[in-house]
Amino acid sequence: MNFILHIWRQANSQAKGFFEKHELEVEAESSFLEMLDALNERLISLGKEAIVFDHDCREGICGSCSLVINGEPHGRHRATTTCQQYMRDYQDQNELWIEPWRATAFPVIKDLMVDRSAFDRIIQADGYIPVRTGAAPEANTQPVAKPLADKAFDAATCIGCGACVAVCPNASATLFIAAKVSHLSSLPQGQLDHKRPAKMLARMEAEGFGSCSNYRECERICPKQIRTDTIATLNKLLSQR
Ligand code: SF4
Ligand code: FES
Repeated sequence: MNFILHIWRQANSQAKGFFEKHELEVEAESSFLEMLDALNERLISLGKEAIVFDHDCREGICGSCSLVINGEPHGRHRATTTCQQYMRDYQDQNELWIEPWRATAFPVIKDLMVDRSAFDRIIQADGYIPVRTGAAPEANTQPVAKPLADKAFDAATCIGCGACVAVCPNASATLFIAAKVSHLSSLPQGQLDHKRPAKMLARMEAEGFGSCSNYRECERICPKQIRTDTIATLNKLLSQR
């Protein structure tokens, strides 16, 4: 398969970025990131600078990969991370524009890689449960009702990728925060701090993310299908504090 690729190049967060055009023949069974690997091998063999992009597990579980492909964060398939997209999925679209997440709070480090440490600082603001760690406690010492365990588990599948921010017209991190709050606040161990939603939202605003105004694009784009009812849970907890 032959592709015309327009890839965002940017030396650092201050530099002016631009689209660089490449033509590449790739196997239909290549993953999207393997396609970029092949392009980088060619660039390196020509003595040119490789394209920088984020990745780690390549199995849809770490949240590192972060490409906007033809305007869609994580590409065209729903509930799928960039690393799980394949070039065969683009056989009817042989011209692709590949960009980094676009949000003020996610400054470009280089090319397609952005700095998502703002998410870490939101977690540090109260996105955790303050209990002693150490040896795993006996599983049944604190029973958790099955519906609550299921609700917490669904929210816990958020991998912190940031696609919800990238797709939101307000660049809001509300779905990410709502996932963490719904996860922790559904469990008895997470009941200790009732200021959690307010503290995390305050940190979100301080980091330069926008507020939620219910576009619900985040729900559509999320690779882990985190639902906006987590935002309803977040708002309910906010009103109860
Ligand atoms: S809510 Fe979904 S899109 Fe947002 S960070 Fe979590 S997994 Fe990614
Ligand atoms: S590289 Fe880990 S989710 Fe894509």
